Amino acid sequence: MIPQDFIQTLLSRVDIVEVIDPRVPLKKTGANYQACCPFHNEKTPSFTVSPTKQFYHCFGCGAHGTAIGFLMEFSGLGYVEAITTLAAMTGMEVPQTAAVARMPGQQESSLVDVMQRAAQFYRQQLKRTPKAIEYLKRRGLTGAVAARFGLGYAPDGWQNLDQIVTSYADASLQEAGLVIVNDAGQRYDRFRDRIMFPIVNQKGDTIGFGGRVIDGGEPKYLNSPETPLFQKGHELYALFSARRAIRDAGRVLVVEGYMDVVALAQHGVDYAVATLGTATTPLHIQKLLRHTDEIVFCFDGDKAGQKAAWRALEQSLAVVTDSSRIGFLFLPEDHDPDSYVREFGREEFERLLTASTVPLSAYLFRHIASRHDLALDEGKSAFLKDLQPLIAQVNAPNLALMLRKRTAELVHIEMEELTRLWKIAPAGARFIQPAPVRRPAPASVSHKLLRMVLFKPELGAELEKSWLIQNDDYAQALYETLVILSSHPHLDTAMLLEQSRNQSHAALIAQCGAEMMDLSEDFDVRPDFDLAKEQLLATVKQSRMRMLAQKPLRDLTEEDKNELQRLR
Ligand code: GTP
Ligand code: MN
Repeated sequence: MIPQDFIQTLLSRVDIVEVIDPRVPLKKTGANYQACCPFHNEKTPSFTVSPTKQFYHCFGCGAHGTAIGFLMEFSGLGYVEAITTLAAMTGMEVPQTAAVARMPGQQESSLVDVMQRAAQFYRQQLKRTPKAIEYLKRRGLTGAVAARFGLGYAPDGWQNLDQIVTSYADASLQEAGLVIVNDAGQRYDRFRDRIMFPIVNQKGDTIGFGGRVIDGGEPKYLNSPETPLFQKGHELYALFSARRAIRDAGRVLVVEGYMDVVALAQHGVDYAVATLGTATTPLHIQKLLRHTDEIVFCFDGDKAGQKAAWRALEQSLAVVTDSSRIGFLFLPEDHDPDSYVREFGREEFERLLTASTVPLSAYLFRHIASRHDLALDEGKSAFLKDLQPLIAQVNAPNLALMLRKRTAELVHIEMEELTRLWKIAPAGARFIQPAPVRRPAPASVSHKLLRMVLFKPELGAELEKSWLIQNDDYAQALYETLVILSSHPHLDTAMLLEQSRNQSHAALIAQCGAEMMDLSEDFDVRPDFDLAKEQLLATVKQSRMRMLAQKPLRDLTEEDKNELQRLR
């Protein structure tokens, strides 16, 4: 752990503009700096850096953060590495607080911490286990690639993880999914005698593992269970380490297996990620579209792969945009990406990728058409019936129009007929997506207050946490912000954002910070703040009054009565 006060001092010494500009050349526009966003493809700049607030925000893709966050996102550094890099820029030395073994009775380890120690343990074990090294070699992997993915080995035996904690009874082992407790109350390691693939989140923390058996046996892969850190439908294997490569290649390849990702990287195809033994979700796709406009799903050539591909198409419909290209690559029947790239190499794989990737639109029509005989009227009507609910999900207005047009052509009807048949609202009524609003009108008082507190954190001292009786997300985010400010009243905006990194409403807090970005530093928020504070207090009063008024008269204490009097 790096002490928070060090991070604050660090942030007060670095200038985010100097950190970003050499990496992404910035242009001064008004109070801020702008550039085309390095985190998604765009032609007009919406990546904005505030020199006064010391943070960046992209109004296109939502990427945001402080100088620390930027280095993590842009250079793929871990949290500690990013801090070390910044410290080096300013000539500061990161205080060394070693990962101390905890004494019994001390606070239990945090989950992130315990996962990191487990990953390190598994990596060390791999180095000293010839049969595990042999296995990876047999699968064509070099030590360098194994190291790049942090591959490890969980040794045989039941309680090996006692080596990473002071007490094997430490509840965090179980909460992290590393240890199983059976009905008899016995504890044992979940992963035994397996090759370990660490799963890393966007921040670079290890949040789960996949473990593969070495010599056959069931199950072939064992994955971490869902834990407070790890939700399978949200995460993609290797996205963290592949971010740069994805940006450089301009596309991301989505495959099914850990081994596929690693083998592809071994052969130089380093822009692949994998779903985690679950089907593709819209969240996965949205996450990927923040990094690139082109997604190619490449599943195994077998029946299961075909099924997974169709499922991925269904999940894509609602989130595909007019500027994204989603495609599907079907490998020959008996191949998966791992076996294909190993047999034919990178060039041939990429040739196939370019030549044989089927665009979403073509796959959609081909798949549905294969179920029906379009020479018959019955076939055409069944084809229309199947397509309608799928195309109705497409929110991208231009793509939706093209798909409808193509549908009409395929069954030889006029576009007007299809429009009437499917009762499609006239263009403009339904399909126009709202243009990105730079500063949405605040819906609630807590939203307004949160924005102002992020703009001038010292205002936080004038608000009480107990006033936040509304339970919406903004109120909760403001609550979390006030909690931070009550113990650190002198934070500036960037430090406050950095401190809120692990709060459950971190994204919303950053969003509200960004909403104030184009205000100049001397903008006077006082009148707005006082008004919003009054509104908040009025709601608190009203609810208090309602509560007192609902009490039976005989239950009212003298104090209650006085309060009621005052409130009225
Ligand atoms: P290799 O046999 O090592 O080449 O693996 P593969 O990637 O070809 O495996 P496969 O296509 O069988 O599986 C793809 C993915 O599905 C794996 O990476 C796992 O995430 C998941 N998976 C496969 N088998 C199992 C299993 O037995 N249990 C669970 N939970 N997941 C599995
Ligand atoms: Mn395989």
